[in-house]
Amino acid sequence: MEAIILAGGFGTRLRPFTYTRAKSLLPILNKPMISYLIDSLPEEVDKVILAVNYRKNQIERYFRENDFGKEIIVNDEPKPLGTGGAVKFAEKHITGRFLVLNSDIICSLHLDDMVKFHIENNAVSTISLWPVENVSEFGVADVEDNGNIVGFVEKPKPEDAPSDFINAGAYLLEPEILDYIETDRLISMEKEIFPQIISDTERFFGFKFDGYWMDIGRISSYLDVHRFLIRKNKMENYLGRNCEIHGDLKDCCIGDNVYIGSNSKLNSTIVYDNARIEDSAVLNNCVVGENCKIGSHSNLKDSVFGDNETIADDSIMNKEVVWTQPVPEGYPKKQIGNVIGE
Ligand code: GDD
Ligand code: MG
Repeated sequence: MEAIILAGGFGTRLRPFTYTRAKSLLPILNKPMISYLIDSLPEEVDKVILAVNYRKNQIERYFRENDFGKEIIVNDEPKPLGTGGAVKFAEKHITGRFLVLNSDIICSLHLDDMVKFHIENNAVSTISLWPVENVSEFGVADVEDNGNIVGFVEKPKPEDAPSDFINAGAYLLEPEILDYIETDRLISMEKEIFPQIISDTERFFGFKFDGYWMDIGRISSYLDVHRFLIRKNKMENYLGRNCEIHGDLKDCCIGDNVYIGSNSKLNSTIVYDNARIEDSAVLNNCVVGENCKIGSHSNLKDSVFGDNETIADDSIMNKEVVWTQPVPEGYPKKQIGNVIGE
């Protein structure tokens, strides 16, 4: 079976870290986010098609250097085609029923169970569903008790949401779904294709599951995922290799070759490789990019520091995004991916 991993898009809400890397390579507990997804694939998936565009060379390099025991195809879109367009662009590699997975999700979904559910229901399309309180940033399903989905709205206003069950970002599709998608056009699977399949086939199902589900759409959820996984693993912190740590840390993830000076206090903070944090710095809910230097006696809260930034001694910052280098050419000002016409 083939699995298409949607790993394109710019990850605009995760800038400045996505200025320098593909979103799917952002580290979670020091491992690229996409590696968790590949590890969760059922055994029957023997071919993985990576639907990529922005920073595709980084993704290609990562898979060249790391073997996951599956055939990996890097399917490079000449330009971002949206979630639907990316699936259509992978059509030449599809031989039967196939999976499509958003790459920015960490969850406890067992894809094997979803495959069984799909076959039992003779579905043409099954999507994973997860309940949330605030649905407005997601796709929302109008789902009946037997799992049949009778409506789907992407990013509705709260008053227009048909339920609390959101699209959790994993799809199992029969190949005929590909006939619904036009070629070479920016198409949103969620906005344009799902509603059409629902009205045409009445065999569109939702699979609910237990455990946890977290999307890594923005910096706050990126920090949340880390805190969650560190606690789930019953750890105080997650530390990389060759670190020199003299300060106090709680719920922090620290990359490789990091120096943290004495009397510094870090809480719920992610520090990437080769960063240096001087004495008596206090960081709460921050993400510190690769090779950053944080000056002594700094007090930093809810802030992010892109790769290679230097923060002066005694700096006080709250809710800042620090990025002093040029924004990469072609990087959009706002989200495009599956959001079209806004
Ligand atoms: N290849 C390719 N090309 N991939 C893309 C493109 C593109 O043009 N645009 C987005 N992607 C990838 C992203 O990298 C991500 O893995 C996935 O498609 C979904 O895009 P996002 O931009 O992250 O969408 P979202 O988070 O606003 O909403 C999606 O995820 C929610 C769950 O987290 C939708 O699928 C919602 O319905 C869903 O609830
Ligand atoms: Mg997303």
